[in-house]
Amino acid sequence: MARTPLIAGNWKMHLNHLEAIQLVQQLTYHLEPRDYDASEIVVIPPFTALRSIQTLIENDRLDLVLGAQNCHWEDGGAFTGEISPPMLAKLKVAYVLCGHSERRALFGETDEIVNRKVRAVLAAGMTPILCVGETLEQREAGDAETVVRGQLAGSLEGVGAEQVTGMVVAYEPVWAIGTGRTATSTDANDMCGAVRAALGERFTGAAAEGVRVQYGGSVKPGNVAELMRQPEIDGALVGGASLDAEDFAVICRHHRL
Ligand code: PGA
Repeated sequence: MARTPLIAGNWKMHLNHLEAIQLVQQLTYHLEPRDYDASEIVVIPPFTALRSIQTLIENDRLDLVLGAQNCHWEDGGAFTGEISPPMLAKLKVAYVLCGHSERRALFGETDEIVNRKVRAVLAAGMTPILCVGETLEQREAGDAETVVRGQLAGSLEGVGAEQVTGMVVAYEPVWAIGTGRTATSTDANDMCGAVRAALGERFTGAAAEGVRVQYGGSVKPGNVAELMRQPEIDGALVGGASLDAEDFAVICRHHRL
């Protein structure tokens, strides 16, 4: 079964809602139907821009898909400052990042917390993009695969094989995020393959075959084609380069490069 590549732009804490609208308008100007046919294209704005982008997608009948950067695991309640999965689902959010390395490193998210979020996102009918990846020290110690396997096991506790089949895992080596350093396409391919193998052992062969494994970490116009040519890499999670409409458009047009 062929897996449709997923190209996602994680805008992090950038762009107010007016800037977000402008970026989507510029981006979609540069894309053609064949680009949306080749890949699923997802934008992941901050919470404050979700509604504006959802309205733009609906009014202009854009083929873009909406994602969110985070959520709480409860459906509602006294959790000041948090956003629940059903609130996101109501805004037609299809994907939610779970366990991005910045949330793990800066906001204390453990595998157990990530696991609660993954399950809550699935329960609300959305698809988690589960982020995993090793630090530079862990890579240099030869522990990259062990670390990633541990993150997968902890974050997917209690999740069924059928649910894993439709999920997305983003392999993002922490040392490549926002640093301009990219994993070589061979290393990235090997680690995405290791993610798939680990899922095959833990769940089923069908789950491992169905799950889409993205690479993330300094993906840009100059390296996207080489990364996307790798058989185990089913897409890209793009930070910095997704804030530039022309750069992100080139990344979305990887199949034409
Ligand atoms: P980057 O970020 O493309 O700026 O390295 C990737 C990410 O954090 O998802």
